[in-house]
Amino acid sequence: GRPETFYEAVGGHETFAAIVHRFYQQVADDPVLRPLYPEEDLGPAELRLLMFLEQYWGGPQTYSHQRGHPRLRMRHGPFPIGPLERDAWLRCMRVAVDEADLPEERRRQMWEYFEMAATSMMNKAW
Ligand code: HEM
Repeated sequence: GRPETFYEAVGGHETFAAIVHRFYQQVADDPVLRPLYPEEDLGPAELRLLMFLEQYWGGPQTYSHQRGHPRLRMRHGPFPIGPLERDAWLRCMRVAVDEADLPEERRRQMWEYFEMAATSMMNKAW
C-alpha cells in the first residue's frame, strides 16, 4: 500500500494539535512574540498554524483549501522578525516539540525543519 506519511507516523491530528496548542500557550506569555499578534484571540492563528503544519507533513490539505498558496515569507512581511523574534519563536516551539515525545529521528527531523523555517522568515537583521 501507500507508504505511511510523517503525519501518520507521529500520531496524526492529535499530535499536531497538541504541539500547536502548547506552542500558542507559550506565545501567550512571551513578551517578544505576543505583541506581534494583531488579534486579541490567538485561536484563529493557532488554527492556521495547525492546518499549515498538518499539510506540510503529509496530512489533510485543509490549509491550502482555506488559505490558498502558503507564501509564508510574504504573509510574515507585516511583522518585524529579526534574530530576537526568531529565537523566541523557536524557544516556544522547542517546549512544544519536546513535550510531544516523538521518536528521536522524527523529533530531529521536525526540529531541523523548524530551525530552517524560522530562520527563513526573518526580514530584518537586528
Ligand atoms: C502567521 C509570527 C515563524 C507559520 C503569523 C502571524 C504572526 C506570526 C504575528 C499572524 C497571526 C495570524 O495568523 O493571525 C511569526 C514569528 C515567527 C514566525 C515572529 C518567527 C520566526 C513561523 C514559522 C512558521 C509560521 C517558522 C511555519 C513553520 C505561520 C502560519 C501563519 C502565521 C501558517 C498563518 C498564515 C496565514 O494563512 O495567514 N506568524 N511567525 N510562522 N505563521 Fe508565523
